[in-house]
Amino acid sequence: MKDFHTLEDFDFRDRTVLLRPDINCPLDKTTLEIINDSRVRRIVPTVRELMGKRAKVVILAHQSRKGKWDFIPMEQHAKRLARHLNHPVRYVNDVMGDAAKESIRTLGPGDVLVLDNVRGLDCETAKLDMNGHAESALVRELSPLIDYYICDAFGAAHRSQCSLVGFQARVPSASGRLMAKEIFALKSIFDIPRRPSVFVLGGAKFGDVSPMIDHVLGSNTADTVILTGLAGNAFLSARGVDLGSASLEILKEEMTDDNIKAAKDMLAKYGQRILLPTDVAVERDGNRMSILTGDLPVNEAALDIGADSIEKFRRVLQSSRTSFMSGPAGLYEKDGFGLGTKELMAAMIESGGQSVIGGGHTVGAADQFDLTDRFSYVSTAGGALETFLLGKELPAVEALRYSFNKF
Ligand code: 3PG
Repeated sequence: MKDFHTLEDFDFRDRTVLLRPDINCPLDKTTLEIINDSRVRRIVPTVRELMGKRAKVVILAHQSRKGKWDFIPMEQHAKRLARHLNHPVRYVNDVMGDAAKESIRTLGPGDVLVLDNVRGLDCETAKLDMNGHAESALVRELSPLIDYYICDAFGAAHRSQCSLVGFQARVPSASGRLMAKEIFALKSIFDIPRRPSVFVLGGAKFGDVSPMIDHVLGSNTADTVILTGLAGNAFLSARGVDLGSASLEILKEEMTDDNIKAAKDMLAKYGQRILLPTDVAVERDGNRMSILTGDLPVNEAALDIGADSIEKFRRVLQSSRTSFMSGPAGLYEKDGFGLGTKELMAAMIESGGQSVIGGGHTVGAADQFDLTDRFSYVSTAGGALETFLLGKELPAVEALRYSFNKF
């Protein structure tokens, strides 16, 4: 049953709509130009639909955060959006001052305006909950000018920030098409997975992996968890496998007593439902070489799962009906060490079941292997997905539910 509004629930004709997408993009460090605008492309259906319904569309979004090298104005994003919409998009170098307000007031039906980077405002990142943010300057200044608030920022839904949770208590709110699709796709594999359901967790931080395993196995969302990448190496080490000093150096900061204990607890609690690599791949004399865990330690760092693990994990994934991957199995950017990730992705696709991947690096790897279009669903989210994997509520989704009950 629906517990938040979607775009068909309101009449947007001649109404001013504040649309909050997540169009935070990777930039080139030298030129500060956007190098991948897939997040801009993914919001095009929502914007087009609102334009088609003759709404006056105001877009409010962030790029990076204050103090970081990639914190830039949203002008480039506006230009990219115009290109993908094949329609003019206005931009104003202001978020809630007179210039922004005047631009909003002069919008006509079907017009699109992009405001400046919302993370330039201190109130945006203030540590407040939904009620606190509803009283913020941003919400007080912009709410009187808008009729509806649409959240299409699933990638940022784990942040309790003003532009993500503050408007829902003041104006009728709905999710955009992308956000609804993300929630639906993830809910379908988390709440009603077809069995067997296999989750592959790779690059995640060691500290987060144990609670994720506990959540997905404890709730029976997954029948089996395959650990690869850094997570796999850390668990092998926690189980007493000596990986060698080069691998341990990479894991060093993560191997705290608490993390090791949590990993051991998970292995004891879930036994064979957690599958660890049986070998690792290292670079020796310029070549990829698989080393069985029984033959470890070696001097070289483990950069991928080895051939034996690939074979075993492939079989498990090929017979799954639901598969999910977050985090690559190895250093896929390095020649020869994307093999584990590529083969496991191929097995997920070959299974013919529902296959979902998510997270920036995982999607980057799928793009590199030209596999992105072959999954049932590819999530744009990174941090929000991790929050989902931990079974925690996403503040922006919670705020949409609140608005659903209120309006
Ligand atoms: C992301 O890229 O994960 C989202 O845009 C959130 O960005 P943040 O991690 O800076 O909050």
